[in-house]
Amino acid sequence: MRQSPLVVVANRLPVDDSVAPDGAFEWRRSPGGLVSALHPLLRNTPAAWVGWAGGTGPAPHLPDVDGVRMHTVALTGDDLRDHYEGFANATLWPLYHDAVEQPEYHRRWWEAYQRVNQRFAEAAAEAAEPGATVWVQDYHLQLVPGLLRELRPDLRIGFFLHVPFPPPELFMQLPRRTELLRGMLGADLIGFQRAQAAHNFAQLVAKVLGLPATDRRINVGERVVRVGAFPVSIDTAEMAALAARPEVADRARRLRQDLGDPERVVLSVDRMDYTKGIEQRLKAYRELLASGDVKVRDTVLIQVAVPSRDRVAQYQILRDRVEHQVGRINGEFGRVGEPAIHYLSQPFDRAELVALYRTADVMAVTPLRDGMNLVAKEYVAARVDDTGALLLSEFAGAAAELEQAYLVNPHDLDGLKQGLLAALRATPEDVAARMRAMRGHLLRDDIHAWARSYLTALDETGSLLRRIGTTD
Ligand code: ADP
Ligand code: G6P
Repeated sequence: MRQSPLVVVANRLPVDDSVAPDGAFEWRRSPGGLVSALHPLLRNTPAAWVGWAGGTGPAPHLPDVDGVRMHTVALTGDDLRDHYEGFANATLWPLYHDAVEQPEYHRRWWEAYQRVNQRFAEAAAEAAEPGATVWVQDYHLQLVPGLLRELRPDLRIGFFLHVPFPPPELFMQLPRRTELLRGMLGADLIGFQRAQAAHNFAQLVAKVLGLPATDRRINVGERVVRVGAFPVSIDTAEMAALAARPEVADRARRLRQDLGDPERVVLSVDRMDYTKGIEQRLKAYRELLASGDVKVRDTVLIQVAVPSRDRVAQYQILRDRVEHQVGRINGEFGRVGEPAIHYLSQPFDRAELVALYRTADVMAVTPLRDGMNLVAKEYVAARVDDTGALLLSEFAGAAAELEQAYLVNPHDLDGLKQGLLAALRATPEDVAARMRAMRGHLLRDDIHAWARSYLTALDETGSLLRRIGTTD
């Protein structure tokens, strides 16, 4: 097997197998923040990506994707059920998102989590050249740093958590909390989205493992593990370039015409996930329609909600509820040829998503809890003419950076309604001043700045950065 100087290990590969409209088999970029962040970063570098290609059965052979080597890890049906849908997405995901849904604990899931983490660690060990850097991603693989260090002590190992890391009161619920913390401590550098998460982690390490820990350094025997906040971002320039393309601008104009040239277009783009606050947002919108503050004649809401983790019960329930709610609102408030909500549950390519961003006067991003939320950043990057209002939840990691957004607490229905009205009624001057400030921030703190700051902290010599040459 060819070995690489930088190996990214993530549960999901950047491409998913899917069937094209003509019935042919094709690979398509998987929706989700982790892939959106890392894919543009690694393009045309000598990196390798170890991950799962979706589905079960033997690992398919994948060609390089934009010059990045793909190493597929196979999951069996049991692994899919107990590791991916079970421990990762029905234990850790809800627990790490403020337990907005009840986390479930099953011993069989934990066994699968260990088994699958071992498999990923072995695949990473095979893909890494001597002295390589291995960058492990996210909550599916928290044991990999520790397992990999045992297999390959020569490696530099980084770990980055894309989702929130919960406060001790919540994390302490986990029956296997000790093992999870120890697994992460196999890394040389542990990155979080927010300083608060690094603080939570250090507190837990001190409390559960009795190790000396600050928010920046943890001593594990002879080793020092560094900890820090590295808020993830997007390729701002690339997104802006795409938005500025004449065909994307044309498409945005056509979309608006197809919507009947309304005065205002409101857009939401989410994976269908209970952390995204979709039900709360629809409820707020319904009340605004009922009170007459928003009128179907002049305002249109587009809700894009691509199905996600759709065999997990909580996700199935959510989808049914959202679709029921949309149908009900359209039934009550729509008019012939003028639905109140345009609901789209399809994956879109980047150009179509950006055309939607360009069409929207208001972007409503109101998760109940979110590690970062790249959709919010993508919208800002796409508003190249400094128009457009961002309605943003205080509970998204992005709110710490995009302070000029219209910030709301999505749990507060009245606050949510007021926030949406404020964004809809804002003056062009106010909107432009806010957008300019947010775009300025994202042009500086883009995905390349993120990689630079993380990888420099991981590899102080800078040799890796020079080799992969990705971060200008
Ligand atoms: P999460 O990581 O929880 O999914 P983020 O907002 O951080 O949330 O990232 C979602 C990513 O998925 C964004 O890059 C967004 O553009 C992409 N995405 C969301 N919906 C779709 C869709 N319908 N089609 C294609 N990509 C999508
Ligand atoms: C979030 C997680 C990612 C995950 C993505 C999509 O961004 O942090 O690790 O890949 O959601 O979810 P999925 O289950 O489809 O991989």
